[in-house]
Amino acid sequence: MAKMRVVQVPKAKGPFEIVEREIPQPGPGDVRIKVQACGVCHSDSVTKDGLFPNISYPRVPGHEVAGVVDAIGAGVKGWKLGDRVGVGWYGGHCGYCDSCRRGYFDMCLIDRQVTGISHDGGYAEYMVTPAVTLALIPDDVSPVDAGPLMCAGVTTFNSLRHSGAGPGDVVAVYGIGGLGHLGVQFAAKSGCRTVAIARGADKAELAKKLGAHIYIDSDKQDVAAELLKLGGAKAILATVTAADAMSAAFGGLALDGKLMVLGVPNAPIQVNPITAIFSRSAVRGWASGSSIDSQDTLRFSALTGVRPMTQVFPLEKANDAYDIMMSGKVRFRAVLTTGL
Ligand SMILES: NC(=O)c1ccc[n+]([C@@H]2O[C@H](COP(=O)([O-])OP(=O)(O)OC[C@H]3O[C@@H](n4cnc5c(N)ncnc54)[C@H](OP(=O)(O)O)[C@@H]3O)[C@@H](O)[C@H]2O)c1
Ligand SMILES: [Zn+2]
Repeated sequence: MAKMRVVQVPKAKGPFEIVEREIPQPGPGDVRIKVQACGVCHSDSVTKDGLFPNISYPRVPGHEVAGVVDAIGAGVKGWKLGDRVGVGWYGGHCGYCDSCRRGYFDMCLIDRQVTGISHDGGYAEYMVTPAVTLALIPDDVSPVDAGPLMCAGVTTFNSLRHSGAGPGDVVAVYGIGGLGHLGVQFAAKSGCRTVAIARGADKAELAKKLGAHIYIDSDKQDVAAELLKLGGAKAILATVTAADAMSAAFGGLALDGKLMVLGVPNAPIQVNPITAIFSRSAVRGWASGSSIDSQDTLRFSALTGVRPMTQVFPLEKANDAYDIMMSGKVRFRAVLTTGL
């Protein structure tokens, strides 16, 4: 049997190990992807650190996958060998729960599958995934650029378009990392008055290059007060991993503004009820999207020139790529490549 290299986590909080495995065969309804690139997302810590219950190990992380369809399982229609495809966090669904019947497959209540967590993901030369999870990659988007658009991209694009903010509105992106640097571009390309918020001055110039009209240094400035000087934010895409930072930004919302909670702090967010009442503002969580949302993200990016800023690592350097992401030093997305 032909072999492939994968990077697996042997147990919760275990190290990344590069191992050889047999190349898997796609079952009914599945396709096999020859992986070319896979972004390294902060949420890969779910697999690395065992943050969800019942993860079965060893597990291959990775939910920012870009590659080509390499084998097709029984019953799959509409995809052909060689199609350029991406796969994100959404890894499959039951098809009959209330959410699925409403078309919110990524919100499946009974069997929500997550790529790289419920089954093996893209830190690998090949992976098998349900055909329903595939997004078609436009010709002019490279695998290294497509990978991060499959999670960091769709999460910010899709939350922005469901936030109620539109052209001309003030949109703030809090936290300029993998998600945030794409959020800034999506907001700017959508015609929003775009505010980038990060700690320290060193990201100011890059944020402006990405399209931010205004930069707020959360170390030196009062985030809510600065946003209110602009009339308040119609939406804040909160990608930070700190609850206190999200809480402090809430007061910067405009009338009917929404704090879109994308980052996953491990503490509760606090909201001043008076602030909420007098601005009718809201806190809304958002999880990335389904495969058609990813495809929309890719199309919008192809059309408008939104691209991730990437640092590329070969698959065997997954550990270095993960560490630089976790340290906050990556500019702005680490991407693994297989050379295939
Ligand atoms: N909702 C979803 O569907 C979804 C999808 C993907 C990811 N996520 C989650 O979103 C979060 C971000 O993911 P990512 O891949 O973008 O991570 P990342 O690349 O590590 O970026 C996180 C950014 O947050 C900034 N940050 C953290 N605490 C901050 C604070 N107190 N003030 C200002 N900035 C702060 C960091 O800045 P520094 O450089 O200053 O440390 C870093 O740039 C993670 O929690 C991840 O699990 C959620
Ligand atoms: Zn992710």
